[in-house]
Amino acid sequence: MSIDTEMDIRTAVALAVTVGREVDLSACAYGPATHDRFLSGPMGYYSFLAGLAQVTKARGVVEIGTHYGGSARAFAEGQRAAGVEPNVLTFDVEDRSGDPVQGEPGIQRVLADVRDPAGAERLTGWAAQATADIVYIDALKDQDFLEETIAATAHVGARWLVLDDILANTGMRAAWAALRDHYGARAISLDDVALNIRSSNYGQGVVALTDDTFAGLTAERLRVVQQDRWGDLVRAATASPTIDPPAGQRERPEELTVLHEAVGRMRGEGEIVVAGAACNVTSTTLASALADAVAKGPELAGISVNVVAPFLMDASVAKARGDDVTERRTTFLPDFRAALGDAAPFVNTIAGDASSRRWTGRPIELLVIDWHREHTDLAHVWRELLPYCIPGRSLLVVQGLGGQESSYLTATLGRLLPYLEVVGFAPDSLVLGPVQSPPANSLDGLDHRRMDGWWDDIDRIDAAIDDRLGDRRAHQQVERSRAMLRKRLGLG
Ligand SMILES: C[S@@+](CC[C@H](N)C(=O)[O-])C[C@H]1O[C@@H](n2cnc3c(N)ncnc32)[C@H](O)[C@@H]1O
Repeated sequence: MSIDTEMDIRTAVALAVTVGREVDLSACAYGPATHDRFLSGPMGYYSFLAGLAQVTKARGVVEIGTHYGGSARAFAEGQRAAGVEPNVLTFDVEDRSGDPVQGEPGIQRVLADVRDPAGAERLTGWAAQATADIVYIDALKDQDFLEETIAATAHVGARWLVLDDILANTGMRAAWAALRDHYGARAISLDDVALNIRSSNYGQGVVALTDDTFAGLTAERLRVVQQDRWGDLVRAATASPTIDPPAGQRERPEELTVLHEAVGRMRGEGEIVVAGAACNVTSTTLASALADAVAKGPELAGISVNVVAPFLMDASVAKARGDDVTERRTTFLPDFRAALGDAAPFVNTIAGDASSRRWTGRPIELLVIDWHREHTDLAHVWRELLPYCIPGRSLLVVQGLGGQESSYLTATLGRLLPYLEVVGFAPDSLVLGPVQSPPANSLDGLDHRRMDGWWDDIDRIDAAIDDRLGDRRAHQQVERSRAMLRKRLGLG
């Protein structure tokens, strides 16, 4: 399925990071660093810079702050990967340049400040012959310097502005806040898209400067990436599941094994979120997988399993939990926390009414849709949580496909398909890879009360499952949700 919706900046940044990870940056040493160190490899954010040059097919790049030349070379490698002849003009006031740029075709170094007449003249002369698509500023962590340099480079008419160190001090944060005010949804920090691309102490900001910045960009490539990344995992976990649910629970070993393995594959780029809770099985499985991962290495150290749910007892929850409902006990939150046992420190419970719950805005690397009886709850989850998944990188596990009241769930999945890739089925979870941030109005027109409007969307997800997986069991689950809809519409 092709994506015909307009690209947003979150998707564009995620696309650049993902594509850039495949560019060979071995020649892009950072060079001299603090504490007399010499870094012979690239910085993590170079893959974003290279990827941005590649996906935008940048014809020219202007950089302020050459240092050793690692980032200038990363832009050049990204251009080369896009089949574009490298053309980078990079400024510094001190010459520390090294192997990445010396003698490198397509990279011109200028020893001047772009705000001074000599520097300004070099920029104007270059811009008369070239088209600058990206301006990258990574020099002084100073508000006046930043604002003056943005002004001094504005005449080249770039489509992208990338700013390093936007969180480094109060002045830089103020400059970034002003840009966000001005550009709104066209300005984003890398930390908003995925954690750990750039250190959270320094931050890096990206601004899409013009209306047509996204023209020609498509997230189609992320579908392939999602299939490659998660498809095998689901197939392997389903073929030989290793996690058994406690006796009497509805979860299946296959889906729990997918959750466990998925946590093991996370990169610490975002949180784990479970939407909805009845029994503890899903959360405990995720939390113990997270505990294992944290014991093995630091990558997931700052990540939690966030369980977003009302935690209210009703007859169906009581049945799922195997508890007695008493009139006095309206919440099962204390029992839920107690049942987590050793895994409790890894779980952050966010309790409250669906409509009043707001997500923190942190990126989400693993999103699990667990208990979703209420239509408004589910619609809220899609609107509030799905936009924070990282396109091309996060995993979405939708439990209970074909379960009770799943007709609306299936219909919403069909409606959201332009933004999702179907990567697997682990009975009874459908596993999807987000490929694009859904716009806020993506569920408009799918009225949860007008059930006769759901058929086309259910057909759409069914066709995608057929196309991608050809999985008979998944198809049967969709068929069950069709049958439920027929029954509710009184169609026999
Ligand atoms: C953090 S380093 C740049 C790192 C490089 N962009 C990278 O990512 O590999 C900052 C550089 O900005 C340079 N710089 C300081 N003042 C400058 C100015 N007014 N114009 C241009 N560069 C300047 C410094 O000399 C230093 O080399």
